[in-house]
This record gives sequence, C-alpha cells and structure tokens, in this order.
Amino acid sequence: MKKELKTSTKVVHAGTSTSNQGTSINSNPIFTSAFHLKGNIENASHQYARFHNPTWDALENAIGDIEGGKVLIFPSGMAAIAATFMALVSSGDRILLQADGYYATRAFTENYLKKFGVEIHAVKTCDLPEQDFSKYKLTFIESPSNPLLDVIDIRQLAKHIHRAGGLLAIDNTTMTPLGQNPLSLGADISVCSDTKALNGHSDVLFGHIATNDDDIFQEIELWRKLSGSIPGPMETWLVHRGFSSLDMRLERMVSNAEKIAQQLVDHPAIKSVRYPGLKTDPSFKIAQQQMNMMGFIISFDLETQKSAELFLSRLNLITEATSFGGMHTMVERRARWGTDNVSEGLIRLSVGCENSNDLISDIENALKDLK
Ligand SMILES: Cc1ncc(COP(=O)(O)O)c(C=O)c1O
Repeated sequence: MKKELKTSTKVVHAGTSTSNQGTSINSNPIFTSAFHLKGNIENASHQYARFHNPTWDALENAIGDIEGGKVLIFPSGMAAIAATFMALVSSGDRILLQADGYYATRAFTENYLKKFGVEIHAVKTCDLPEQDFSKYKLTFIESPSNPLLDVIDIRQLAKHIHRAGGLLAIDNTTMTPLGQNPLSLGADISVCSDTKALNGHSDVLFGHIATNDDDIFQEIELWRKLSGSIPGPMETWLVHRGFSSLDMRLERMVSNAEKIAQQLVDHPAIKSVRYPGLKTDPSFKIAQQQMNMMGFIISFDLETQKSAELFLSRLNLITEATSFGGMHTMVERRARWGTDNVSEGLIRLSVGCENSNDLISDIENALKDLK
C-alpha cells in the first residue's frame, strides 16, 4: 500500500509529471489554442484551449490535492470571486457579505449583481453568527478578514447556513489552502487569490476556487468556459512553480510574523496590534482551533495619518505596496484608498521571507520617537 505523504511533501511534488524514464521532472507550459480533434469529440481529453489545457490540469490537480476538492483556476482572485457569484446567484436571490472584508468583493456585487435584482447585505464579522441565514442563497466571507484579521468559527457558521439551506463560500486568500482548509471545515466553496501567498513571487495575478460539490463545480466551470475568464499557460506554470515552495515560504513568513507581532505589541508608539497568533488577540482561540498556522499578516494602529506616513517614509528594507503574501515584506496604510472602514493610522504589514533580525531593526528604526 502506498504511504500517505505529508502535506509539505505533497506540495513540492503535486501535479508534476510521471516518473517515466526520460520524461521531464516538471510539467511544462503547453502553448496551444487547439488540439488534434478528429471525429468523435467525446473521448478527447482536450478539445479547445478555452475549455481546458494540460498546464491547467497539472496545477488544478496540485492545488486540489491540498484543498481536498476539485479546483478551477482563474486569471485573478477577482475572476474567481466573480465566477462564484455569476454561476451560483440568480435574480431575486439574497446574498450575505462581510462589511469588513475585501472591498472589491462588495464592489463587484454592488455594480454587477444589484442591477439584475440580487439583494446584497453586508454585516461585520462579529455580527455574522446572529444572522438569519434562511434568507440567503449564498454567504461569502473571509476568515481571517482583510485587513483587520477577525476570525470566524467556520465549522459553526457552515452548520448554521446548511441547516437554513444556504451555501457558504470562504475567501481563503490570507491563509492559502495550506494555512487553513475551508472545505474540511464545512464550506461549500473555497476561493483564493493566488496572486498573494500561493504564488508568492509578486509576478502574476491568479485565482482559484475549490469545491466537493459536483453541481457547483459544473456551474462554475460552465461560467469559465462561456465567459472566457481563463488564465494563460505561462501564468499557470509560474503559479505552479511558486506553489511548490509554498510550505517552505509560509514557514519562514509565519515565524517572522510571530516575532514581529511580539515586537509591535511591546512598542510604546503602537496603539493596538491584530495578529491571530497573539495570545491576547480576540481571534486567538478560534484561530488555534481551525487554522494550521497563524498567518503572515499583522495589522497595527499608529493612531494618526501623520505618524503612519512618517513610519512608512522611514522604512528602508520594507516595501510600500498594495498587496500581500510575497517573498518581500510589504506594508501599506490602508486608509489611503478610502475603501476600508479602518482608522487613518492603520498599517497592514505582510511579512515576507527576509531575515527576521533585518526586518525587526528596519521597523525599530522607523518607529523611533514616533508619537
Ligand atoms: C482577500 C482578497 N480576496 C481577493 C482579492 C482579489 O485578488 P486579485 O487581486 O488576484 O484579483 C484580494 C486582493 O487583494 C484580497 O485581498
């Protein structure tokens, strides 16, 4: 009997080609729009490149192995999110969103679903358990939420929603399927922006959905096929390459984040810190129960816009950018967008793979004498 491999080993090997003599160790990108397709189309593994591509198959199998479900890949996280809504929601349905989640998810539904008669409600993470889920076809949330890192008990939420006859989709971008497994916690759909940590090299936009429900899978696959919301083979291959080092990168990122969270908690210039791995954090208890690791994102409050901007201007090593999950540590004052309901001094820090001492001294230097 074949021994079940550890997840960290599976990630390195997942979706790669056979071990046949003389074949390549990696699966490589296949650049084609068409496949040989004689006569009967039913038995062709590939028919046309908007429907499927062997490069997609390799990555979908690789991610599916870790998600514990069937995967569909998309050209961005938003494309995966849009596909979920477009495939599963109809005119007259009500959907429930998170008021403190990623703003573009709400913006998509407000701009494109509302006009077709879909009713949209958004509530804060802390108010989610009290909702009457019998009203909603689909509940779409993040845990931990971005950028304030509130964690919801996904298992409990899934139970309530299923009892009421609804569906639960979890945006798992801040954790990736290695950090948290929404399907095993009871979610119907796991969605991820692979632009972030899953690819991890800040060079590609990408996304995926995973599900164990064949009907949901088919609906979303049909949306992808007919809307043409498909990733290119080169991006797919790059993400597969990035994915194989995910476990190793997360190990460094999370261990760095744990040290930096402690540094920030102890610092007098900082009003408050959110990191699910801190024992004092409101998310700590549930995070320990349902997350495999505590993540690489930290949010902290420097109280005023002026202090936050001064802090950012003094950083030498850490890069100011609007993304997270990459090898490079990145930082951003979220209120500059005017889209998140956060204080003017809130900083989101995405901890990368650099040496922790270098990061800690860069932060220490930028915080010096800050009020
Ligand atoms: C939680 C979350 N979900 C989805 C997305 C959208 O992903 P993409 O930028 O790949 O479309 C983002 C992007 O920042 C995000 O933070």
